[in-house]
Amino acid sequence: MAKYDVLIIGSGIGGLTTAIKIAEDNPKLSVCVLTKTVEGESNTRYAQGGVAAVWNPEVDSTMKHKEDTLDAGDGLCNEKIVDIVVNEGPLRVQEIIEWGARFDKKAADGTFDLGREGGHSENRILHYKDLTGWEMQRTLMAKADAIKSITIFEHFFAIDLITQHHLGHAVTRLTPDITCFGAYVLNKETGHIETFLAKHTIIATGGAGQVYRSTTNPVIATGDGIAMAYRAKAWLENMEFVQFHPTSLYNPGRDNPVFLVSEAVRGMGGILKDRNGHPFMDKYDARKSLAPRDIVARAIDNEMKIMGEENMFLDCRHIPEDEFIQHFPTIRDKCLSVGVNPAKDMIPVAPACHYLCGGIKTDEMGRSSISRLSAVGECTSTGLHGANRLASNSLLEAMVFAHRIALDVREVISTGTFNTNIPDWNASGTTDPKEMVLITQSIKELKEIMSSYVGIVRSNIRLKRALDRLWQLNQETENLYASTTLSPQLCELRNLINIAYLITRTARMRRESRGLHYTTDYPQRQDVAQSLIL
Ligand code: FAD
Ligand code: SIN
Repeated sequence: MAKYDVLIIGSGIGGLTTAIKIAEDNPKLSVCVLTKTVEGESNTRYAQGGVAAVWNPEVDSTMKHKEDTLDAGDGLCNEKIVDIVVNEGPLRVQEIIEWGARFDKKAADGTFDLGREGGHSENRILHYKDLTGWEMQRTLMAKADAIKSITIFEHFFAIDLITQHHLGHAVTRLTPDITCFGAYVLNKETGHIETFLAKHTIIATGGAGQVYRSTTNPVIATGDGIAMAYRAKAWLENMEFVQFHPTSLYNPGRDNPVFLVSEAVRGMGGILKDRNGHPFMDKYDARKSLAPRDIVARAIDNEMKIMGEENMFLDCRHIPEDEFIQHFPTIRDKCLSVGVNPAKDMIPVAPACHYLCGGIKTDEMGRSSISRLSAVGECTSTGLHGANRLASNSLLEAMVFAHRIALDVREVISTGTFNTNIPDWNASGTTDPKEMVLITQSIKELKEIMSSYVGIVRSNIRLKRALDRLWQLNQETENLYASTTLSPQLCELRNLINIAYLITRTARMRRESRGLHYTTDYPQRQDVAQSLIL
């Protein structure tokens, strides 16, 4: 049985920033960070475009950043949370710069070279070439690794949160005082399931893009934390709002994850066109290629259907080659590796699942509905994104709420205790899996169901079909789970099924089209905007 004052599950920007902040605030607290593969593997690491923050008050303002965020969120943002993030964001960006993060500057005057992305009315994106996430992850790892009170466990896979349910008490979503005592964790090297007790637990497990066939998210993004929180009866919100990035590199069947062609490329002048070189975005929005993501992804999807094509194109041939290379070296290298030269060829692109706007419902201090359990980063629904996230607001949100959770932990930790009555994990009656194909095939089926029936455009009949198929997959997987020695693959399958079910069920419940949720059965927005809480 391991005991830490604070247990953090996840080592991306949310988890590591929270760990650093808590440890710096009170070096006496023992802080443990679990990560299911290696410390550096996360969605954070792949972020390209950058971090949105108001940096140049002479031309930009937090009011404009707020308006852009609200506009993208299509009526479902929590204004108070938007205010918090746009106002505190620049302070948090300043902090990570002080910790060593580099952002590109203009050669002429040494000021930050602020980029533009879809839905932003001003240039306000700080970036490090097209590798912003890599740079931020590098900075955070260097900082966290140097702090003695932080212990990082790699290849430790959290399976379930521990609550009074594990002491034999009935717990439902309406039980008023559900409390988290830590987590059961699979040590991938030994195969043993260990008990991690904590006075306070923080979920920072990121998104769930792997629920779809084509996603920009790395293979760790299987929604584990959201699924664990759901099983522990925490409240979740806005799960139907899955963001598809308009421009992943079209390279069918080759890559998992698919490679992202950053929105910053459109911010620099890249234009969406069809195979014949005709721009089409003016039919959909006055902001053309730089409209918010839900609009652009739906437009591309529509054009692909009209033309019977599997991709559209991003034309960057008019951007000076040296500028493109300077800003997007990784994107250019990847394009060249598949035989596309952005200086001479249009880049083939298609939408891909990119970001989950919903998740564990948290309040302004990052608290979940379960006591002694907070959440940070992409696994949350803080109220910032509403029905559609504004580009480059995610890294910002994670830093702002990491700071707030650290302030909150300062308050709550003194009353926390370890619950040493928690029983060990009971694996009796389970045997080693005989056929891994049962798991791998189910994961493939799940991705097919979600991609075919719960994608950018939805309908009642597709969602009903998805729910029917998911039900069967769920039954089979629960039987396997009850009888088989646990493996990361089986746990991920189970979590992915939970996530798929939550997305599909809330999509079925929403009888309107709003933000990222578009259904042909209810193409209009309802007058009253309401978040769906499960
Ligand atoms: P992550 O960074 O995904 O970290 C999750 C961590 O949890 C990982 O360490 C993982 O191993 C661990 N974990 C998961 N499950 C378990 C488990 N069961 N047990 C133990 N550990 C577990 N956002 C922006 O704001 N700007 C951008 O430019 C941008 N570009 C992006 C480009 C790409 C290609 C992608 C995929 C995303 C991009 N995003 C961007 C979104 C942003 O990167 C993510 O939303 C953000 O990094 C999420 O951070 P996080 O800390 O919540 O999760
Ligand atoms: C991108 O670079 O296009 C991704 C930005 C984001 O997801 O916020």
